[in-house]
Amino acid sequence: MSRSASYATAAAAPSEARPLIPAQGNGRRLLQRLNALQQEVAEVVEEAVESGSHTNGPRVQALEEAFKTYLQVADAIAVNSGSSALRAACELLRLPPGTEVIVPAYTFIMTAYAVNDAFAFEPQSGALAKGGLIPVFVDIDPQTYTIDLASVREALSERTRAIIAVHMLGQMADMRPLLDLADEHQLFVIEDAAQAHGATYTDPQTNHIYQAGSMGDCGCFSLSDVKNIGSMGNDAGLLTLTTRLGSRLPALTAEARAWRNTGRLGRHRYEHQTWGIRARMDEYSASECLAQLRYLDSWVSRRQQIAARYNTALAGTSFTPPYTAPGRTHAFFNYMVKAPTLEARRLLESRLRAAGIQVADTYSVVPDQPLYRQGSLPCRIVAAERAREVARLLVAIPCYPELGEEEVARIEEVLSRCP
Ligand SMILES: Cc1ncc(COP(=O)(O)O)c(C=O)c1O
Repeated sequence: MSRSASYATAAAAPSEARPLIPAQGNGRRLLQRLNALQQEVAEVVEEAVESGSHTNGPRVQALEEAFKTYLQVADAIAVNSGSSALRAACELLRLPPGTEVIVPAYTFIMTAYAVNDAFAFEPQSGALAKGGLIPVFVDIDPQTYTIDLASVREALSERTRAIIAVHMLGQMADMRPLLDLADEHQLFVIEDAAQAHGATYTDPQTNHIYQAGSMGDCGCFSLSDVKNIGSMGNDAGLLTLTTRLGSRLPALTAEARAWRNTGRLGRHRYEHQTWGIRARMDEYSASECLAQLRYLDSWVSRRQQIAARYNTALAGTSFTPPYTAPGRTHAFFNYMVKAPTLEARRLLESRLRAAGIQVADTYSVVPDQPLYRQGSLPCRIVAAERAREVARLLVAIPCYPELGEEEVARIEEVLSRCP
């Protein structure tokens, strides 16, 4: 669940006096890591006082190297949020004004807002144009809830230059056919991997196993505190660049580092040779994300074990557990179960609350949000019907490594009583 999600609906008091199971495990994760965190903060303060800088220092570099190795990508550039990584991807690709960027209708709003937020670049003069990029909303696959290939095909126009494949809820989109389509039409593929740290995709053509964020031209990670790994409260994010970018790669790695650092290409503090914003990662966030990266695989595998237990509990009920497509592994940033009807959704939510289990808000359909619906932000809507159905019927079930055995059993018990 994004940090913007409100858990207001989760506040209903449980009828039984059992400790509340929070919707997310990030608070517990921080508590478990408190001693290590205190140590890290002390070390970073000392280093920062010595070097005179709290950002873009040795820990940021170490994090970038560690992600590069973990993901097997050409470059990894630490930034201050997943939203910044998405905006960076859109701007660094120097898309011309009027460009359409295909986005799934079911995602967190920042996937689309980043497109509206990014500057376009006039191809001849290089002039920057605000508002020049237009998100085009397409529907999702009914099983995986990720971007639907047929809907992408339907959306293609002579203005299409890029597709954002969102690895929604923790499962990668079907990347191989998307990349083939992109190659056919000379499009960029940007992976929104904000929810998918640790998810993988086996390429059916080569059998190569790709990590989320390593298969498209660019990958965008959020490292906010609620994610599968994340910083200690401050927002953080990461942009990846892959060899698909070919000869553009060396220039882009330099541009990306300048972009996050107010457009400085050289060392002079007040010379800004290119376009940039202030999107640096601080040394504290880098240090904590680096520490957590070491646990990522084991934490994801714990999420998968818990998810498998919930799947078993739901067997024989009318509710649909998350589907993991063949050749993919699900990182279960969210475990969302689909109710057969709105009434059934409400029933499960009220039973969860009664058992002292927080029920998080679930994602809304992005093109139905006011600024797009009222035409206040440019967009084009191709299809969103399946996204609407999914948004209406999904229920978020707590699924994170910090859950205790009694808590998993309590959740299983509620799921197994589903009609
Ligand atoms: C799919 C998706 N994209 C983008 C973002 C934005 O990331 P951040 O919150 O780090 O800016 C999020 C955050 O939740 C997300 O879930």
